[in-house]
Amino acid sequence: TGLFTYDPGFTSTAACDSAITYIDGDKGELLYRGYPIEQLADKSNFLEVCYLLLYGELPDQAQMADFDQRVTRHTMVHEQMHYFYRGFRRDAHPMAVLTGVVGAMAAFYHDSTDINDPQQREIASIRMIAKLPTLAAMAYKYSVGQPFVYPRNDLDYASNFLHMCFAVPAEEYKVDPEIARAMDLIFTLHADHEQNASTSTVRLSGSSDANPFACIAAGVACLWGPAHGGANEAALNMLRQIGTVDRIPEYIRRAKDKNDPFRLMGFGHRVYKNYDPRAKVMQATAARVLDILGVENNPTLQVAKELERIALEDEYFVERKLYPNVDFYSGVILDAIGFPTSMFTVLFAVARTVGWISQWKEMIADPQKKIGRPRQLYNGATARDYTPIAQR
Ligand code: CMC
Repeated sequence: TGLFTYDPGFTSTAACDSAITYIDGDKGELLYRGYPIEQLADKSNFLEVCYLLLYGELPDQAQMADFDQRVTRHTMVHEQMHYFYRGFRRDAHPMAVLTGVVGAMAAFYHDSTDINDPQQREIASIRMIAKLPTLAAMAYKYSVGQPFVYPRNDLDYASNFLHMCFAVPAEEYKVDPEIARAMDLIFTLHADHEQNASTSTVRLSGSSDANPFACIAAGVACLWGPAHGGANEAALNMLRQIGTVDRIPEYIRRAKDKNDPFRLMGFGHRVYKNYDPRAKVMQATAARVLDILGVENNPTLQVAKELERIALEDEYFVERKLYPNVDFYSGVILDAIGFPTSMFTVLFAVARTVGWISQWKEMIADPQKKIGRPRQLYNGATARDYTPIAQR
């Protein structure tokens, strides 16, 4: 006893076995259940990827139809959830709202919280995947002061989400299939990423046999940080702040200055020491979406591309193997679709829910499962005697 490794930030400690996602950071390779992300981005769709992540194999047609039906059956949330939203300030950050309402689901769905029952775990998983878009869209609607829009189960996952966000009762709203495809792609690219901070948080929370909805709420909370899922919001804000290509060198200089806390947001990754394969797909999608929307010479995309070009030639970034990550270009797309930056991380949470729940299910079913309990190197005071307050 007393012998353990010291590894702050878990840079070299595997905390679990997992068969879900594989990353080769040196090669810039990402596989979901063995399938390259590029192929899934090109040929699959988010709901099929959800099935793959959850069950390990691609579905046949009957399995897919059944899964689709099971998910769409659960897209509505309990009507009383509306009161939760109304309790928040309108200017609350939607991630603050999402953290709250996802946790609140633990108080609503009592028939899917017995984690020892595989059937209940299954229903909890489906509920989470089905309801997160509804909760996220409600957070958006609440923030802009518009009425909530109920889910439409005749639409596919991404189209339904866009509908819930952008439809208004007074007007006809039709989802552009190309935009829906881009939204679906963003979901697919964010669906899982093995043991990142939020997923590890979900696993750690679940390791105590906590309520599954509460575990996902813990994941949402962790994702919010700008070093993690909050980077998409921070990256777009940064690109806007830079504004024009001529100001890039100033920001590159700041990013390299160790006395300046500024970092290039959307750059760098703990595991990728090569181009993030998701960023490549994202860059191409950004160009396509702007094209579809008829946006020419989008200044943000121009700044992003030029910033990338300059950084990839700069010794500082080359030496440290810092490349654009998934969040560098996603904001350009989401902005063009019409989402405010405050919603970006919420969309990440919608997509990552399937990753969290797949990893949670894998952990709960693991016969080796143990409560997560890191050790520490104590560096505080040695034992000393208490002195009464009057004598201090
Ligand atoms: N800009 C400038 N310098 C950087 C950056 C950056 N974005 N990222 C890392 N560095 C430097 C860092 O200062 C350090 O330099 P030195 O060795 O001289 O001290 C070196 O590169 C290694 O960085 P680190 O902080 O030790 O690396 P890490 O693995 O702990 O951090 C990271 C990874 C993603 C938190 C970090 O790269 C970062 O803060 N990036 C910006 C935020 C971001 O884009 N996050 C999204 C990650 S991908 C999506 C997700 O996970 O949600």
